[in-house]
Amino acid sequence: MAAQLLDGRLMAAQLEEQLKRRVAHLAQKGLVPGLTVILVGEDPASHTYVSNKEKACARLGIRSATLRMPEHTTQAELEAEIQRANADPSVHGILVQLPLPRHLDADRALSLILPQKDVDGFHDINAGRLCRGLDCTVACTPKGALYMLKQAGIPIAGREAVVVGRSNIVGKPMALLLLQENATVTICHSRTADLAAHTRRADILVAAVGKPRFLTADMVKEGAVVVDVGINRVDGKLCGDVDFEPVAEKASWITPVPGGVGKMTIAMLMDNTVAAAEKVLAK
Ligand code: GUN
Repeated sequence: MAAQLLDGRLMAAQLEEQLKRRVAHLAQKGLVPGLTVILVGEDPASHTYVSNKEKACARLGIRSATLRMPEHTTQAELEAEIQRANADPSVHGILVQLPLPRHLDADRALSLILPQKDVDGFHDINAGRLCRGLDCTVACTPKGALYMLKQAGIPIAGREAVVVGRSNIVGKPMALLLLQENATVTICHSRTADLAAHTRRADILVAAVGKPRFLTADMVKEGAVVVDVGINRVDGKLCGDVDFEPVAEKASWITPVPGGVGKMTIAMLMDNTVAAAEKVLAK
């Protein structure tokens, strides 16, 4: 393997040490950060993610509550729980795990979360402020991916960044963050003509498509930095959106799956939750 690893496990562990100190500082002032997670239905991947979030809260001394709601939950029941958490001063962060069952309106639910408690950065106000380059809560996965690039000292300004995927959760905010860092950014998606012609130009290539080993070595420039946001399960094993071994032969840096961006997503959720609690104290 020619590429150096962007080690999410290590970087998340280092960030957790800093977060523990911030949580201890808040505790001295009588404040325990609180995160409420709302999980609707039985999606197995969502249950795994939520359980990892609970474990991270427990490690850091963040109070966490998970509301596990049944698949047949109505929009009104979901919204009532969001309003309850909005009104609870011991809750600093609220996260509605996505995807929601199809009969529920996720956009409507997310827009009800108080922007200052929106630790996912999915509220229209936070997404809009990111777009305008204003102070805001940034979505955890792209925030974590950018953090990894910066920790490794990878230059971003003036470089060609190509983001494959245009979701509100990853692709769009990732592109905005890279733009803020003065990269020249291209967003590709399922309707992009000649995808490989774009990806082969990338100095920094972010794969967020949700298809196992979609990005192959012939689509990557020699020396590129490759960030794999995918978490796919194939034959019971986790793999990313990047065909890891052959791509690692060409790349200069690469994130593994597991142990890459996924670890940082959770660390950034913790960071956003602690920051939301700190803002309450600063008021
Ligand atoms: N589902 C997949 N990723 C995420 C995330 O970052 N936040 C929430 N709420 N749901 C998700």
